[in-house]
Amino acid sequence: QATKAPAADTGKTKEAKDITLGFSQVGAESGWRSANTKSIQDSAKEAGYTLKFSDAQQKQENQIKAIRSFIQQKVDVIAFSPVVESGWDTVLKEAKDAGIPVVLTDRAVDSKDTSLYVTFLGSDFVEEGRKAGQWLSEKYKDTTEDINIVELQGTTGSAPANDRMAGFAEVIASNPHLKVIASQTGDFTRAKGKEVMQAFLKANKDIDVLYAHNDDMALGAIQAIEAAGLKPGQDITIISVDAVKDGMQAASEGKINFIVECNPMLGPQLMEIVRNVVDGKSVEPRIVTEESTFTSEQAKEALPSRAY
Ligand code: AHR
Repeated sequence: QATKAPAADTGKTKEAKDITLGFSQVGAESGWRSANTKSIQDSAKEAGYTLKFSDAQQKQENQIKAIRSFIQQKVDVIAFSPVVESGWDTVLKEAKDAGIPVVLTDRAVDSKDTSLYVTFLGSDFVEEGRKAGQWLSEKYKDTTEDINIVELQGTTGSAPANDRMAGFAEVIASNPHLKVIASQTGDFTRAKGKEVMQAFLKANKDIDVLYAHNDDMALGAIQAIEAAGLKPGQDITIISVDAVKDGMQAASEGKINFIVECNPMLGPQLMEIVRNVVDGKSVEPRIVTEESTFTSEQAKEALPSRAY
């Protein structure tokens, strides 16, 4: 059911140049995030809006500060990609009381009161986790031996980490041979992915599969796997999420076996939502982005035309 945006001047349209969007970004932790930032900045420019952009450096307190500053500056719309799911009610209530509509992009919040935001534009992360699990289940459907899986989780408490873990676990549960033997956060970064994979390799002699919640952590882990004298994609099957260029490159070289796409190009849809919200038009409360998957072969084919 579509919700009506709480615009102050319903029916009266503002010129694009008079629209100010405050956007609080998570940080610059991954290739995905850089592509997402570029998409938002380019699209705001194209739409002719004034964009107030703030980088939270992966800290919730910085995002809360940024949102409060947008409220003070009386922007027309606030959009943000929440670093974690919990702890937003107070600041979202402040925005609501100030009459400023909020749009969630990329990541969800767990607030019970859904009137605190107009819509949530982004991926279905549970579905992404399921796709990763389905590919693995199919690969090992006839196995009679245990398959040892290690998991590199995204940022603790973030929607993509929670959901990708849950979707994957739900699907692999139907095959008792698929066993997650270690699961730890790599904070969505390459450096942490490498560090945690090194620890996994030290503690576990027989790792069959790595499931990384994003390409950057998988790429860091690949460095650790190679440094340990093993062949990524052969000695250890690797699944990741995102399908950014570096991930697709590794997949095309056979180092990543399967990538679930997560689309960062949310800018054009966000600007359209902003326009509708400012005009007081109704907006769907949940807008899910379309995504596909890539095997190594498919990555090789898609790589030359990959935009990010
Ligand atoms: O919220 C989307 C996730 O955040 C991406 O999968 C990851 O790369 C990013 O840091």
